Amino acid sequence: MGTARVVFDRWDGRYAAAMADVRFSAVRDLFAAASRPDVISLSGGMPDVRRVPHALVEKAVRDALRHDGASALQYGSSEGRRPLRSIIVGLMGESGARLSEDDLVVTSGAQQGLDLLAKVFLDPGDTVICEGPTYVGALQAFSVYRPRVECIECDGHGMRVDLLEETLRRLGPRGAKFIYTIPNFQNPAGVTLSPERRRRLLELSREYDVPVIEDDPYGRLRYEGGHILPLRALDPEVIYLGTFSKIFAPGLRLGWLAAPRPILAKVLLAKQGADLCGSSFTQAVAERYMTGTAWRRVLADLTRTYHERRDAMLDALAEHFPADVTWTHPEGGFFVWVTLPGHLDTKPLLAEAVERGVTFVPGSDFYPSGQGSNSLRLAFCYEEPAQIAEGVRRIAEVLEDKLALYHAFVEAGVMPAAPAASRLEA
Ligand SMILES: Cc1ncc(COP(=O)(O)O)c(C=O)c1O
Repeated sequence: MGTARVVFDRWDGRYAAAMADVRFSAVRDLFAAASRPDVISLSGGMPDVRRVPHALVEKAVRDALRHDGASALQYGSSEGRRPLRSIIVGLMGESGARLSEDDLVVTSGAQQGLDLLAKVFLDPGDTVICEGPTYVGALQAFSVYRPRVECIECDGHGMRVDLLEETLRRLGPRGAKFIYTIPNFQNPAGVTLSPERRRRLLELSREYDVPVIEDDPYGRLRYEGGHILPLRALDPEVIYLGTFSKIFAPGLRLGWLAAPRPILAKVLLAKQGADLCGSSFTQAVAERYMTGTAWRRVLADLTRTYHERRDAMLDALAEHFPADVTWTHPEGGFFVWVTLPGHLDTKPLLAEAVERGVTFVPGSDFYPSGQGSNSLRLAFCYEEPAQIAEGVRRIAEVLEDKLALYHAFVEAGVMPAAPAASRLEA
């Protein structure tokens, strides 16, 4: 398989100007090297579907064909199949959010939800507010519509709502089209928005009349601490994105978007233009999986597995990483965010890491325009604990050389020491 780089393109000049702003991630550029079987992947946020028993999936597929017959193979409604929407209502209820089947649409993953929301809300030059760093797939979905992206810094308790307030005040009422947030075990930072900040964020959203998009793929993957109510449970005006990717499998491409009815009507129009309706077949399979199998046991096993892997990563970081490097402590999800002293750019370090047989994602991928260059994201979801420890050790080797050089420069007065404010830790 080749890399995503295009050497010559005879259609250059014909594409929509908006496509010029859509970027490939640094990992995509190294895709061929990074997918070698001997390379330890600490880059991709891939759920470990190897632990989802095929026998259960086979049963769900058989049941779907046997009981749902032709309807599973036919076009369906744009909203999605009602039995699946009813299952989603149950899942949302378990997390504390009350809604009905008519308050949501089934999407092709949460990613399609992001794309549809961008299509529905954004004109070129509009302002959107998100966390800094934020999910690269959201930046990509938004960037097609050429918005101005305001990144609000995070700390160990999630988005800094004091800075959000400053930004909203500067922009004025309705000054942004929406606030996009990943409150639980954020991708990429691994941090969780505290209950107090959740309440404050919602107050600000009402005060400045800016809707909130809550993206919550990891909410059920908690390894420590108590459940925190989603924003949607506190305010029915919140637009909520959910997914089956982390509780079942991303290969089904199934997620959902819950929103106030007027917004949902626009989203449905946008969805019809995109794909008429989602896959009836995978929806029927998910219905059978979620009602006719021991899926909760599988998820509990997955959660235990991710928990062990998170611990392995945190232990390895404490053992191998140099003293002036900091990292976050995720209570769930897939990711740890690592901050190096300023002036160190992690992008060129990635190629060196790949040479040593390990991948990570450079921090600048998670910002719209180059910030975060002294940070990186590590994913602990896919590799076994021993591999995680070895991968962290190899990255530490790469870092040590650079840090030694950095300290020499600081001591010689060639370079100032890193400002403390650029660090995100828990
Ligand atoms: C924050 C966030 N949102 C959305 C997605 C996309 O998920 P899906 O597989 O449901 O499209 C991901 C996937 O990693 C994610 O981390």
